[in-house]
Amino acid sequence: MSATELRLGVNIDHVATVRNARGGDTPDPVRAARLAEKAGADGITAHLREDRRHISDADIDALMASLKVPLNFEMAATDEMQAIALRHRPHAVCIVPEKREERTTEGGLDVAREEARLTRFIVPLREAGCRVSLFVAAERTQIDAAARVGAEVIELHTGAYCDAHAEGRFDARDRELRALADMAAHAHALGLEVHAGHGLTYDTVTPVAALPEVRELNIGHFLIGEAIFRGLEPAIAEMRRLMDAARAP
Ligand code: PXP
Repeated sequence: MSATELRLGVNIDHVATVRNARGGDTPDPVRAARLAEKAGADGITAHLREDRRHISDADIDALMASLKVPLNFEMAATDEMQAIALRHRPHAVCIVPEKREERTTEGGLDVAREEARLTRFIVPLREAGCRVSLFVAAERTQIDAAARVGAEVIELHTGAYCDAHAEGRFDARDRELRALADMAAHAHALGLEVHAGHGLTYDTVTPVAALPEVRELNIGHFLIGEAIFRGLEPAIAEMRRLMDAARAP
């Protein structure tokens, strides 16, 4: 991969959300994953939540069996999820905080508080060959802790930046963007690979994609929504175009 390359991971969770609204088999997230591959996704991301509200165990089985691009398996740091990851050995495991009552992943992991537990938790995943990523807010204490626990990757939570943009709080948005830029540079200097995601849209992706240390963006909800209007492949192709334009020398 060249120094400027920026991968796009397409999160297909919300195809499963629509399927589960009715039960049954459609729309099929695996079909969406195959289309995403065709449209230029470099990876597929899926979050198997403890309550299985969108992606199911059978979806993970099917994705592992049929994907050509790597699977980024998002999961909470529980024994159940660790066992599933060790059975499948996906390319990457992204550890996220999870609360049953939340609508989506609301904040980053508190790596600093859970340092000892996460250090032990990560070892078998790394031994199984998974790249372990921790989903964290753009805060120095969390990033320093992520480097100490043995993660290879951090994914910076872009939700606060995107929310501030959507709500027209532009000073706050610019502050959040500066924190993302500073912490991407800091994490890179510590030897961590830097990813970013959550809440990104066509309107918010460019400044994040332009951060030189960021190597991967994971984007889901907006793309699946946009697919209703223009189709999944064109929706992804437009995101890819914006990312490449942001990265152009
Ligand atoms: N990255 C992580 C770690 C996430 O938990 C999520 C949401 O599941 C995303 C990226 C994608 O966020 P969105 O669906 O808002 O694009």
